Amino acid sequence: MAQDIAERCEEMSKPENLTIVEHPLVQHKLTLMRDKNAPTALFRQLLREISQLLAYEITRDLPVTHRRIDTPVTRMDAPVIDGRKLALVSILRAGNGLLDGMLELIPSARVGFVGLYRDEKTLRPVQYYFKVPTELRSRLTIAVDPMLATGNSSVAAIDLLKEAGARDIRFLCLLAAPEGVARMREAHPDVPIVTAALDERLNEKGYIVPGLGDAGDRMFGTK
Ligand code: URA
Repeated sequence: MAQDIAERCEEMSKPENLTIVEHPLVQHKLTLMRDKNAPTALFRQLLREISQLLAYEITRDLPVTHRRIDTPVTRMDAPVIDGRKLALVSILRAGNGLLDGMLELIPSARVGFVGLYRDEKTLRPVQYYFKVPTELRSRLTIAVDPMLATGNSSVAAIDLLKEAGARDIRFLCLLAAPEGVARMREAHPDVPIVTAALDERLNEKGYIVPGLGDAGDRMFGTK
């Protein structure tokens, strides 16, 4: 599988803005989630756990400053995260599954939501909800959606975040299809993508293959 991923990345000349987190814990948990027999509660728990491992990767270069503190032993200048509180933006509804785990790790993050549905006639994403933190211009903004499939809704969500002032945006997903990565690269080459896996392709219904099915349905137990 690792070799497959490497080959696929090479084939599509892996864009610099794509990071695949190939950590064994991430890959193990992802395999459990892909299994169609995984119960809803387990799926949700694994998504929460993976979201924290992906969050670790996507925040690894956050700027730090130093604060003078007293440990029980001595005084020291210790690192703390610098700058404005970052913004986590969930692309509804499946984004909430990633958001919950990330908020446990970054409890002071500001939170936004983008709701989009697909117009059946034009097949284009239409906004039905948009609420984001203030001062996006000066915050690192991490948009989250488990599945980067066609890329249409992710691109539209990032369009909206840019219109709202966001300048430093990253995108975090669980699974990506080559089609979605290409679409994002074309529309938003400045937005780095972090994912647990780059799958083979989309099928005729727009599902990622091999994928894990409908992420929203699997995490919320709907059909
Ligand atoms: N959205 C999903 O939930 N699953 C897919 O495979 C593609 C888009």
